[in-house]
Amino acid sequence: MARIIVVTSGKGGVGKTTTSAAIATGLALTGNKVAVLDFDIGLRNLDLIMGCERRVVYDFVNVIQGEANLHQALIKDKRVENLFILPASQTRDKDALTKEGVGRVLDELKAMEFDFIICDSPAGIETGALMALYYADEAIITTNPEVSSVRDSDRILGILDSKSLRAENGLPAVKQHLLLTRYNPSRVTNGDMLNVTDVEEILRISLLGVIPESQSVLNASNKGEPVILDKESDAGQAYADAVARLLGEDRPFRFLEEEKKGFFKRLFGG
Ligand SMILES: Nc1ncnc2c1ncn2[C@@H]1O[C@H](COP(=O)(O)OP(=O)(O)OP(=O)(O)O)[C@@H](O)[C@H]1O
Ligand SMILES: [Mg+2]
Repeated sequence: MARIIVVTSGKGGVGKTTTSAAIATGLALTGNKVAVLDFDIGLRNLDLIMGCERRVVYDFVNVIQGEANLHQALIKDKRVENLFILPASQTRDKDALTKEGVGRVLDELKAMEFDFIICDSPAGIETGALMALYYADEAIITTNPEVSSVRDSDRILGILDSKSLRAENGLPAVKQHLLLTRYNPSRVTNGDMLNVTDVEEILRISLLGVIPESQSVLNASNKGEPVILDKESDAGQAYADAVARLLGEDRPFRFLEEEKKGFFKRLFGG
């Protein structure tokens, strides 16, 4: 049975698309059949991060409107087996995503025996974001360690508990995972950012991962390669840990402390 996971946040620009690409790729690398869906109609970021933007012919809205089928629209990843991307339309209006249409696409994906369906949500709490979370079994609440981001995440938690299909049908609640992204330990030490415990205490959901603020994320996105494929990078390793936890493994958290400067660095700066 497919696990439908929405990557959501409320606040924009916190790292949802980066996370969707990394987690979907990580799950496929561990042998799962994965589809990652871009709900951000009009923006189309996911295909850029996944490096398949030139191969987009049909998109999510084409499938919903019956102009193409899923086999035509799904893009098979070149690097990783069993990983498929359903891109968003760049031009259509946001109302093109309907509950009925999205439901049909998800049912078809389930019938194609996907293990995971990752839904990359747009920012905010408008139609696109509501569509992305409506059918979810689980949610990755992507949050930056700052007050405005935590506040908007809290808001999304309320929406998951009241406006999801699970809530409507009185089923067990959407399972909520906290993913802290762009975590910068030195800024936490300086008091510019909230620490992990602060955020956990406010949101009170279980911690899936802490992704450090990292240049490797920018490098990866410039190359069109999900950062999890950069196995040397701190952010890539932190995402791999999060994927392992999603699969039930217990892993210690890393990259929470400021990197200790070595003798030469202390001496010469840098
Ligand atoms: N761990 C990180 N370290 C450094 N930069 C990051 C990290 N995560 C994300 N970013 C950067 O933050 C910006 C926003 O990331 P991303 O597009 O994934 O966010 P988003 O939540 O999907 O945005 P939107 O709400 O617009 O969809 C990008 O420039 C991305 O490279
Ligand atoms: Mg995005």
